Amino acid sequence: MNTFEMRTVIHFGDNALDRLKQIPYKRVLVITDPFVVQSKMIDLITAPLQSAGIAYDIFHDVVPDAPVDKIAGGVKKFLEYQPEAIVAVGGGSAIDSSKAIREFALKINNYGKVGLIAIPTTSGTGSEVTSFAVVNDTAAQVKYPLVADSLTADEAILDAELVKSVPPAITADTGMDVFTHALESYVSTEHNEFSSALAEKSIEICGVFLLRAYLDGNDMHARQKMHVASCLAGLSFNTAGLGITHSMAHQLGAIFHIPHGRANAMLLPHIVEFNANINKHSKSQKEYLPAVKRYSNIAHVLGLSNYNKVMSVRSLVNWIQFMQKEMNIPLTIQELGTITPDAYFAAVDKMADAALADTCTANNPRVPTKEDIVKIYTKLWSF
Ligand SMILES: [Fe+2]
Repeated sequence: MNTFEMRTVIHFGDNALDRLKQIPYKRVLVITDPFVVQSKMIDLITAPLQSAGIAYDIFHDVVPDAPVDKIAGGVKKFLEYQPEAIVAVGGGSAIDSSKAIREFALKINNYGKVGLIAIPTTSGTGSEVTSFAVVNDTAAQVKYPLVADSLTADEAILDAELVKSVPPAITADTGMDVFTHALESYVSTEHNEFSSALAEKSIEICGVFLLRAYLDGNDMHARQKMHVASCLAGLSFNTAGLGITHSMAHQLGAIFHIPHGRANAMLLPHIVEFNANINKHSKSQKEYLPAVKRYSNIAHVLGLSNYNKVMSVRSLVNWIQFMQKEMNIPLTIQELGTITPDAYFAAVDKMADAALADTCTANNPRVPTKEDIVKIYTKLWSF
């Protein structure tokens, strides 16, 4: 038996933030990062709350990667203020932190149901609709993935007003994260008709609107479309899971602090080639791996010309690299210019072990060996 469930009510489109005037709460805790407060973006959140007479307090101590000490601070604030709901405003870290804060606070002092309204300010993580949160023990350099239905937000508000000032480099990185979520979930071992439909639509939108949003941040139509694409991809991977692009990108982020979406974009062409295995195909093999057909479908969704399935996979790889070049995303680690070869190759063995153990690896359509992972990391330096 399969089950597909969408727990989050999604408000989207023009003036979606007006939903804040209608929420069924009288006392909320807004959790966000310092940038949202300093940039006055917070006014877009507090104005509708004020006009609806909803009391609020703001916890703005969220920092990237959701470190546990900051989450503990948020739990303390929550227990002092006793809100009826949390309004999480920010990128993946703010929303993940909010999920964890609600979860931990209610475990300490369970005084009933507390709502969670997630309002993303980047179009990337899909965290507003997923049942995952990643928290980070910075002292031990360990990231803990939390997975529970109870983490899922009750409502998500997708308003492009909040993403229009995102700079081009972050639009590129987060947009490629969206594309990677959709593509990995589409070929995942756990894919199903519902996740596939969501992934296909997300990919179609990325194909038309990601470059537009990158080239002109004020293109609000493109911004809104990418905001929706991010959410669609989140819904898709929430049920189907991801794959080794993410497993390997997590290590590049943990050790070398390469932005998550950028690491995914750099790895993705190599992972498509690995999963499809088209270069190693011999005439004795009767059929290509199942991922070949899935990737070929995606090439079709992107409108790439297809002579046959293998050519489709190649055109998909070329398309990903075209997007990288158009959006100034380096193709190799060497091109990043911030990591020495000694430091990189000294870490490859450890990264390969951690990538194999990463939870995302289980759903990859082709089972990798450690040697496979090492080869891909090695190729990523300079191919
Ligand atoms: Fe991601």
